[in-house]
Amino acid sequence: MKTVADDIVVIGAGGFGRETLDVIEAVNADAGAPRWRVLGVVDDAPAAIHLERLAARGYRHLGGVDAAERVLSTAFVVVAIGAPAVRARIAAHLEATGATSATLVHPRAVLGSEVTVGVGSVVCAGVQVSTNVRLGRRVHLNPGAIVGHDTVLGDDVSVNPGAVLSGEVRVSERTLVGAGAVVLQGLRVGADAVIGAAACVTRDVADGVVVKGVPAR
Ligand SMILES: CC(C)(COP(=O)(O)OP(=O)(O)OC[C@H]1O[C@@H](n2cnc3c(N)ncnc32)[C@H](O)[C@@H]1OP(=O)(O)O)[C@@H](O)C(=O)NCCC(=O)NCCS
Repeated sequence: MKTVADDIVVIGAGGFGRETLDVIEAVNADAGAPRWRVLGVVDDAPAAIHLERLAARGYRHLGGVDAAERVLSTAFVVVAIGAPAVRARIAAHLEATGATSATLVHPRAVLGSEVTVGVGSVVCAGVQVSTNVRLGRRVHLNPGAIVGHDTVLGDDVSVNPGAVLSGEVRVSERTLVGAGAVVLQGLRVGADAVIGAAACVTRDVADGVVVKGVPAR
């Protein structure tokens, strides 16, 4: 059994950054002995309110991505930026500098059989993933998201809180599924698309398209 915690740096001081810290704290609590030692949070341009909220929890801002390059070369990183395209861009930069990504699954998420979680993904509390599901790299499953059987999510997909992907759905890279949205079974959602909060997607969605409403258009 592992007894020494690995160092980790969270990239992104915003809301999802702090939710990711919740996941890390829960993983540590669940493991009995700390699995991760958080060195701090990296953000190029953090809002003052985000820094205040981090400081209130005892977490340090280590500076921007470039300033923190030295620490990023020795610690694990998790890119906790909600916007998929920004996440993908920063991850590509970090990968080029040799950073190693951590994969974080909250102990109170439920993962079914034959589920693969791509490197760098973050799965929050209350998520339910059914059977035979493939999550790409750096997929974010926000609290309470539901991913149905035989679904495949591409790299840097974000599924926002309470969204439901029915069975056999395919979502391509960097697409954002809004809070509380539903994607019906068997549908294909392209890359770089946005599904509005509370939408009900009843047809395939092309690359780069924004859809909203019920049914989503
Ligand atoms: C659909 C969405 C991408 C549109 O963003 P946008 O282009 O910036 O839209 P705007 O806020 O300028 O609104 C444009 C119009 O769409 C409407 N609209 C916005 N979001 C909508 C939604 N989810 N469903 C239905 N209509 C929506 C607005 O009321 C507005 O209507 P109007 O022109 O009649 O006044 C965005 O509102 C959304 O739902 N994103 C997901 C957000 C989410 O999941 N948040 C949770 C974060 S954890």
